[in-house]
Amino acid sequence: MGPLPFIIVAIDGGAASGKSSSSRILAEQFNLLHVDTGSFYRHLTADLVRRGVSHQDLPALIATLGRVKLSTQLNGRSAQMLIDGQPAGDGIRSQDVNSAVSHYAAIPEVRGALLDYQRGQVGVAQQHGFRGLVMEGRDIGSVIFPAATLRFFLHAEPAERAKRRAAEGQQDSIVERDRLDSSRKASPLTCPTGAIDIDSTFLTLDEVVAKMSALIAVSLA
Ligand code: DC
Repeated sequence: MGPLPFIIVAIDGGAASGKSSSSRILAEQFNLLHVDTGSFYRHLTADLVRRGVSHQDLPALIATLGRVKLSTQLNGRSAQMLIDGQPAGDGIRSQDVNSAVSHYAAIPEVRGALLDYQRGQVGVAQQHGFRGLVMEGRDIGSVIFPAATLRFFLHAEPAERAKRRAAEGQQDSIVERDRLDSSRKASPLTCPTGAIDIDSTFLTLDEVVAKMSALIAVSLA
């Protein structure tokens, strides 16, 4: 028997739609590398803010993006992006980053700076002996891996999502981020044609994961 096929699972959806929790469980179940691309946009945003580079100053942004070195460190099954050798701090989940990140993520040059890095996670997963990867974000099934083995799109009512964030002890501008992420020109948040749309408003996390794992199991059979 030859080597098992490498699988790519793409999970897109709005803020607090359950992408991270379900991705982590699937990574565990199927021996996949977990890649949270939202954490990459957050880390890059926090770093640019710290350097004083405004999202409105395109020349400074382009110059800075050309200089930063991105690399990867594994944290358990999750890929952590390092910027100039530094991991992200807890600050990437702060309200400041929550309200800034969509402005930076709307800029094509910022997205371009992360494009090859995100695709390169396939190599990281293979090098570390993972069976595949599960990547979560906003444009994974539409732009990063349109030919992924499986593409899921998660959505849930905003009130339910706000409840989930509050239960995590976090404040988040869910509706505003979704509005900005969905209305931008560059790789907007959208359910790509052919993706499997799951409304998790009335589902438990276990139920969402069960739907996804059943389909992954079929695609592996
Ligand atoms: O998944 P998250 O809420 O942590 O993502 C933070 C922000 O990063 C999100 O509001 C928009 C941006 N993002 C993006 O534009 N594209 C991705 N693939 C992932 C995140």
